[in-house]
Amino acid sequence: MKPDLSVELCGLRLQNPIMPSSGSFGLPGYEEYMDLNVLGALVAKSITLHPRPGNPPPRIAETPAGMLNAVGIQNRGVKWFIENDLPKLRHFSPPLIVSIAGTKVEDFAQAAELLEKEEGIAAYEINVSCPNMEAGGRAFGMSAAATQAVVASVKKHTRRPLFTKLTPNVTDIVEIAQAAVEAGSDGLTLINTLLGMAVDVRRRRPLLANILGGLSGPAIKPVALRCVYQVAQAVKVPIIGVGGIASAADVLEFLLAGASAVQVGTANIVDPYIMPKIIADLEKCLAENGAASVREYIGALRAD
Ligand SMILES: Cc1cc2nc3c(=O)[nH]c(=O)nc-3n(C[C@H](O)[C@H](O)[C@H](O)COP(=O)(O)O)c2cc1C
Repeated sequence: MKPDLSVELCGLRLQNPIMPSSGSFGLPGYEEYMDLNVLGALVAKSITLHPRPGNPPPRIAETPAGMLNAVGIQNRGVKWFIENDLPKLRHFSPPLIVSIAGTKVEDFAQAAELLEKEEGIAAYEINVSCPNMEAGGRAFGMSAAATQAVVASVKKHTRRPLFTKLTPNVTDIVEIAQAAVEAGSDGLTLINTLLGMAVDVRRRRPLLANILGGLSGPAIKPVALRCVYQVAQAVKVPIIGVGGIASAADVLEFLLAGASAVQVGTANIVDPYIMPKIIADLEKCLAENGAASVREYIGALRAD
């Protein structure tokens, strides 16, 4: 018998636990190259209330075992998304998760209010990694109070499940996770990129125009796993794990640490066809290990 890859996330049934991470995979766009219906869920690039041009180039730099990006949530705003992208995305069978970002609490709320009227959205992911302009530019997700304010403001406008995507650039991610859950987050996505930088020695300049960027890829996998594990011990809501996942074995590590599903980010940039390969390998891996369902792995880490 074929192993059952399906998982459940806040009432959403996913045929498998694999989905792209926000911003790492062209949605819409990739349907021209692969069948998006094989994925567990679809996650769109973060959108903001108003269009954002993003940061000036260069905004990508390669690093050992990963990359730095400082794209800066370039997007055309929520109204453009509703009119242009959503009509294309809502026709796919996997649940669509729409990611919302913002620089003011009220902007998150207004974006959610506009999206809530639209059909074909299964859930939201709240990206609290944007700089909070009302509080001097630290990311919302770096403060429990600011995270709570954003989640509560979005929660008021939606009946759909809400996942809050946390930044690892904090002293205690458990404290932020608990704040998000208290404010009404139905699930959590862990983690966004780690703040980093790279230097061009010859030119004596930073490699990124923005100077600082977000580190992603295999380099951050141990940090992401640690965050998933710590948070899973402390909260009861489902967790979507993300950070350096590039293989079926990586997926199983995250599930064992406590994730119910995972997102693939930088690995899509290295190989745009990697997600279907991971799904096929995951099925093979389970069969080889005599597992009837992928759900057997969720939170099953033995750490005693
Ligand atoms: C080019 C690029 C753009 C990204 N854009 C977003 C975004 O718009 N919203 C978001 O929540 N995360 C964004 N991320 C972060 C990823 O979704 C993911 O959390 C992070 O890269 C860690 O996963 P990975 O190591 O598998 O890439 C972006 C990452 C990259 C590399």
